[in-house]
Order: sequence, then C-alpha cells, then structure tokens
Amino acid sequence: MPMSSRTRYGDWALVVGASEGIGAALADALAARGLDLVLLARRQESLDEVAQGLEERHGVATKTLAIDLTDDDAAARILEAVADLEIGYLAVCAGADPAYRPFLDQPLEAAEAMLRRNCLVLLRLVHPLAGRMAERGRGGILLFSSGAGLVGMPNTAAYGGTKAFDLVFGEGLWAELAPRGVDVLTLVLGETDTPALRRLKAERGRRVAGATPVAAVVEEALRRLGHGPTRMVGAQMRIGERVLAVLPRITAVRLAGRMSARTMGAGPTKGSA
Ligand SMILES: NC(=O)c1ccc[n+]([C@@H]2O[C@H](COP(=O)([O-])OP(=O)(O)OC[C@H]3O[C@@H](n4cnc5c(N)ncnc54)[C@H](OP(=O)(O)O)[C@@H]3O)[C@@H](O)[C@H]2O)c1
Repeated sequence: MPMSSRTRYGDWALVVGASEGIGAALADALAARGLDLVLLARRQESLDEVAQGLEERHGVATKTLAIDLTDDDAAARILEAVADLEIGYLAVCAGADPAYRPFLDQPLEAAEAMLRRNCLVLLRLVHPLAGRMAERGRGGILLFSSGAGLVGMPNTAAYGGTKAFDLVFGEGLWAELAPRGVDVLTLVLGETDTPALRRLKAERGRRVAGATPVAAVVEEALRRLGHGPTRMVGAQMRIGERVLAVLPRITAVRLAGRMSARTMGAGPTKGSA
C-alpha cells in the first residue's frame, strides 16, 4: 500500500476487531498513512484507548463502535453508524475461535454464532460497502483466513469451515472487484502471536512459541493489497500450503490434526473455562 493511501482508498477505514492485536496494529499503520479510523469491537474501554492513541500519535479522526458481531442486528447497526462516512478501506480482522474444542463438545449455538460473525456479517458488510467502493472506482478490502481453512482438523471443524468460506469468498471478490478499482486481499494466517491466541494457549497450559508476530501480518497486509487475491503469511504457512496441495486428503487431514494437537496440547487445564 503506497503512502498516499487516503487518495488511493478514500478518507475512512473501518477496522472490525480493532481493540487489540492485529486490528489495533493495522489501525495504527493506516492512521500513520493518513486515514481516519472507525474502530469496532465489543470492549468500549479498549477501543477508547486505541482511538486516543491514534489521535495523539497521528492526528486522525476516530469513531468507535462497541458492537458484538454475533448479534442479529450487528451489521445493520454498523452500516447505520457509518452511513455518512466514505469507507474506502474495510478490514475484517475479528474471527478467531476462542474455544478450540470438538464440535460436539460445544453447544450448537457457539458454532452458529461463529458462522454469523465470520460469514453472515461479512456478507452483510461487504455487499453495501464494496458496492459503494465499486461505484467510486476505488477501495480496499482486507479479509482474514487461516490454515484451519485449508484442511479439516479435529477441534476446528466449524471454525475451519468459516475460514474456508472467508478465503474463497475473498478470492471471488478479488476477481470481481479488481476490474472495478477495488483491491481485495485475503491473508491466510498460521499461528500468530495475538492476545487472543495467548489467552487460548494459557487456558490449555501452553505458551505461544514461534508464532508469527503481529507486525509481520500488518506488513504483509500493507504490502500485498493490490497484488493478488491471497497471501499465505509466514514461511511455515507457505510451505504448509504446498505440502497440503499434493497430499491425498485423508493424509492431509490426519497430518494436520497431528500437527495441531502438538502445538495446542491435549486440552484445557483444570479450572479454566
Ligand atoms: N492468532 C492466530 O494464531 C490466528 C491464526 C489463524 C488465523 N487467524 C485469524 O486472524 C484474525 C485475528 O485473530 P486474533 O487472534 O487477533 O483474534 P480475534 O479474536 O479474531 O480478534 C481480536 C479482535 O476481534 C474482536 N472481536 C472478537 N470477537 C468479536 C465479536 N463477536 N464482536 C466484535 N468484535 C469481536 C476483539 O475485540 P473484543 O474482544 O473487544 O470484541 C479483538 O479486537 C481472525 O480472523 C482469525 O481467524 C488468527
């Protein structure tokens, strides 16, 4: 992404999942490039802290939206809140699975909420916002997928399904919108050192080790938007994708499950949620 991001994309960026980790760091990088920021997550206090930091460091305008994406009316409330703004850049970061448990060990509602947050809300936001970008002939959209979306594994069945959706949706959008001046990029992440991953690992008595730093993800996001539909982030993901592509699916599923169990451990430690 060039320094003239405001000219290339428009005045405002909407970062969904901006209270910490990748979303907060991305918001900072976009503010440094002159974009005003709409910051969305559930925790108002954390959003306020991020917004204050952006205003102080970069002198940009900010707006915060404390909205839970699993609520039925989430997309409608977001669209109403940004109706008067020219959203030229949309990043949908929120999407991790806080549980990492077998599908049948969780209430069906947990999977349905994840599907709403990771797929349905995404469609409901992208349709009108990308539509306006296409009319203006400029815009940028950044989506997040996961290695769990490349192959099925125990403990990530529903999550991985939503991430496969995000990947394929993003690639299709790229093909449709590139000729209309709108850049779309889907980043496919492996283990990334975010607060959410740290919390999940801590629950399982594990520490984050060897994960991709958040700064590397942000760097890829800025550098790769406008240069193709998809980017595997980190050497491990790029090698993993190639290996998975040549294996029979039965081998790929078994191998990925073994590797995932090795990094995530057997299960939550006693006393954790
Ligand atoms: N970290 C990894 O190892 C990893 C690996 C592969 C893919 N990814 C992908 O990378 C993206 C970012 O992941 P992450 O690890 O940073 O964790 P995450 O929980 O997806 O993202 C954190 C941000 O999303 C917000 N958020 C989460 N659920 C929300 C909800 N229901 N409504 C509104 N906001 C919500 C959080 O703020 P609040 O808590 O304040 O709401 C926070 O700002 C996700 O799409 C994930 O699938 C991550």
